[in-house]
Amino acid sequence: MHTRVAAGWLTGPDHETHALLDGERVVGLVRLLDLDDDTAEFDLRVRSADRGRGLGAAAVRWLSGHVFTSRACHRVEAMTREDNVAMRAVLARCGWVQEARHRQAWPTRDGRRLDAVGYAVLRPDWEAGTVTPVDRAT
Ligand SMILES: CC(C)(COP(=O)(O)OP(=O)(O)OC[C@H]1O[C@@H](n2cnc3c(N)ncnc32)[C@H](O)[C@@H]1OP(=O)(O)O)[C@@H](O)C(=O)NCCC(=O)NCCS
Repeated sequence: MHTRVAAGWLTGPDHETHALLDGERVVGLVRLLDLDDDTAEFDLRVRSADRGRGLGAAAVRWLSGHVFTSRACHRVEAMTREDNVAMRAVLARCGWVQEARHRQAWPTRDGRRLDAVGYAVLRPDWEAGTVTPVDRAT
């Protein structure tokens, strides 16, 4: 961790790291990446003892608001593994739309290949409080 801090891993012009707090207690970490691009990305981790309390959903709601109010990004994106039920539930609950499924794109430690699924929220949807589905007609 020390070298990463020294190398600017936590915060730089196009990325930020935020602690997720429950009162004074740090219960997770939010990483925001590619903040100078049209599409930003994030990574989120909630302490295992604090999962299932709604903190993941609260963090996802906070981070989309933070990105859209502080940056010019048009989209925020997240990739996760198909079996990450908790992350997928959080994204769906927050109104993020599944846009992609990359088959067998995520090798596991035990030698399997699982699908990677991509979700995103659009700035116009965030502003209007709407959810625009993917156009699958073409
Ligand atoms: C993914 C993660 C951030 C979610 O955080 P959290 O604080 O537990 O999230 P919440 O409490 O807001 O919501 C969890 C949701 O998952 C659901 N869930 C969790 N485990 C589940 C399971 N095994 N089966 C079905 N649903 C499950 C919960 O029911 C809840 O959904 P609901 O409110 O619609 O019922 C957390 O589990 C985590 O840090 N995981 C490890 C890191 C990780 O995978 N990060 C994502 C990288 S893209």
